[in-house]
Amino acid sequence: MTISPARDNDLMVLEGLLTTIAPDSRPHLAAMGPVVDRACTSFVLKPFETSQTYQHLRARGVAVFHVTDDVLLIARVLASELASLPAHRQAEGIEGVILEQCCRWYALRVREWEGSSPRWIARCEVVDQGEERPFWGFNRAMHAVIEAAILASRVGILPSAEILDQLQRLRPLVDKTGGERERDAFAILGRVVLAKLCSEPATNETEHH
Ligand SMILES: Cc1cc2nc3c(=O)[nH]c(=O)nc-3n(C[C@H](O)[C@H](O)[C@H](O)COP(=O)(O)O)c2cc1C
Repeated sequence: MTISPARDNDLMVLEGLLTTIAPDSRPHLAAMGPVVDRACTSFVLKPFETSQTYQHLRARGVAVFHVTDDVLLIARVLASELASLPAHRQAEGIEGVILEQCCRWYALRVREWEGSSPRWIARCEVVDQGEERPFWGFNRAMHAVIEAAILASRVGILPSAEILDQLQRLRPLVDKTGGERERDAFAILGRVVLAKLCSEPATNETEHH
């Protein structure tokens, strides 16, 4: 079946990882879910004003979005567990960095800002793109980890009972269909949720979608 041009214009949310560059020139990594057309020719980033990603995007107007099946990396990013950025190289078209272990990457330049606080809208053009390795494929545990990561980023926004309930529902998918990396990722996210629930009443949490 060929995808018609009309279908190419479907707008969808693509979950992945975004690198931006901090004021001190250090690369920053965050999970982000831009709105894209099916052919990935345009990206609309929706960063919360409280995020570092927003500040970096405002200051420099560039980022690199990565499509990945590495849900352990996404969990570790969300848990702020990484001491340094994983293997990466400089992008050529913009001042940005490309993660070498991703499946696909898109170097983005912000063309237009819209919206308002607390969540801004950055319409971006794709200035360069590439493929590093094939996508592994569908796996329910991987998807469950993505859902758990989003739940973890919503602590303080969603009721605690709802977050814990949804995590419990996701767990069997990870146990039954995942491998070691997915189980590790889910465990990391469980710890993030519990730590957040136990410590702060969510003053600077950001919501997703
Ligand atoms: C899959 C996924 C998608 C996300 N998408 C967004 C998003 O579109 N906008 C946003 O502000 N935060 C989003 N988040 C939450 C951010 O990753 C998280 O709040 C992070 O702390 C970003 O803040 P930072 O730039 O200060 O690191 C998402 C989280 C996950 C797990």
